[in-house]
Amino acid sequence: MNALIKDLASHVDQEVTIRGWMYNKRGSGKIYFLQLRDGSGMTQGVVSASEVSSEVMDAAEKLSIESSCKVTGKVTKHPKLDDVFELQVTDIEIVHIPPEEYPISKKEHGPEFLLDNRHLWLRSSKQWAIQRVRDCIIQAVYDYFHENGFIKIDTPILTPNACEGATTLFEIEYFDEGTVFLSQSGQLYLEAAIMSVGRAFDFGPTFRAEKSKTRRHLTEFWMMDAEAAFVEHEENMEIQENMVVFIVERCLERCLPELKILERDIEPLKKIKAPFTRLTYNEAIKVLSEKGSDIKHGEDLGNDDEGILTEGSDVPVFIHKWPKAIKPFYMKEDPQNPELVLNNDLIGTEGAGELIGGSQREDDYDKLKSFVEEEGLTGDEYMWYLDLRKYGSVPHSGFGLGLERMVRYVCGIQHIRETIPFPRMISRVKP
Ligand code: 4AD
Ligand code: MG
Repeated sequence: MNALIKDLASHVDQEVTIRGWMYNKRGSGKIYFLQLRDGSGMTQGVVSASEVSSEVMDAAEKLSIESSCKVTGKVTKHPKLDDVFELQVTDIEIVHIPPEEYPISKKEHGPEFLLDNRHLWLRSSKQWAIQRVRDCIIQAVYDYFHENGFIKIDTPILTPNACEGATTLFEIEYFDEGTVFLSQSGQLYLEAAIMSVGRAFDFGPTFRAEKSKTRRHLTEFWMMDAEAAFVEHEENMEIQENMVVFIVERCLERCLPELKILERDIEPLKKIKAPFTRLTYNEAIKVLSEKGSDIKHGEDLGNDDEGILTEGSDVPVFIHKWPKAIKPFYMKEDPQNPELVLNNDLIGTEGAGELIGGSQREDDYDKLKSFVEEEGLTGDEYMWYLDLRKYGSVPHSGFGLGLERMVRYVCGIQHIRETIPFPRMISRVKP
């Protein structure tokens, strides 16, 4: 009977066959311990000369690192460890033996070597664990939104207009239509969709020709944008914090084995509960000046500033109501102070940095038209967007979560490049 490694607990004392790869091997001659992986988990197969034929012993000997195989055996519980199950091997069928030695060995490899071999590196246990956490987060996002009245709307990737700063646009020549851009965010299209469906989210690849070489920037990353009609600034932040809490709880519920492989201390994750701290941008600048940052009013927060603002905090921190001058054209002016906008960034603890950017959107036709023009974005590309303020305009808000930032946060890993299967960065588009 074929079985998955993750289900071995329900097959104790039965003989099953698992189909996968041998990622490591110990022993020789009389006994072999095969480390086996099948995609669902990892287990050990014990091959003992006193229990099997010489053909099976020969097969065990032939298996080299990353050979694929079908291994049959009786499932036993580990004598000492709880929740660990092994296979007392009775038969081995070799599927494929690599003709060359597997390039990734137990010894330490540099990041460039591993990235060059990303197609193979993905098989290692930490990378396996990260991709499973990523999948868990994706599903949590879908579940959270569906439980809260949002539907998924797919927004286009080829777009005639910019959403975020024009400096990070990837350009493409599009037949006779001239230059189009790879989407930086589906937000503007979601704003159109919610006038039909009320609440919507998208989830897809987005692109930034970002010159930043940091541990938090990719040029291609997956963003979840959410948008809701009749939701204003405060409620927008509540939706965000509830979503982040939902995601973290889901990972703690379903991904403990993965987090263990990643050696993630889960105590800080357990403390992520609503409400999150809220600081206005002005308050944040005051705190930063008191704590010795050289940031000036009107500047964006640096990495160190974000660290200072979340220092000692158990929960992520909202920095809201930023100066209009440094934020995109679509954000709604603060009625109490036209120099500010009703927006927020959400900064994660433990050096996670910005996880989310969101805002209430300008819903006044004339104001938005002048913001578009001030930005130098004239032309008819924004007419459709302005139309949304012409026919039944409503207050509305939304936000964008960077999936890889969230994966990095939950997994507690240093560099964002490990959070996506095939990272694209300034100097890397291969493999
Ligand atoms: O803050 P951003 O630029 O906001 C927007 O694009 C809005 N239009 C979203 C919206 O309101 N619907 O990007 C949103 C998030 C950031 O908070 C960050 O998590 C992630 O996307 N992000 C990146 N992640 C990886 N690499 C990059 N270069 C990123 N740029 C933004
Ligand atoms: Mg942002």
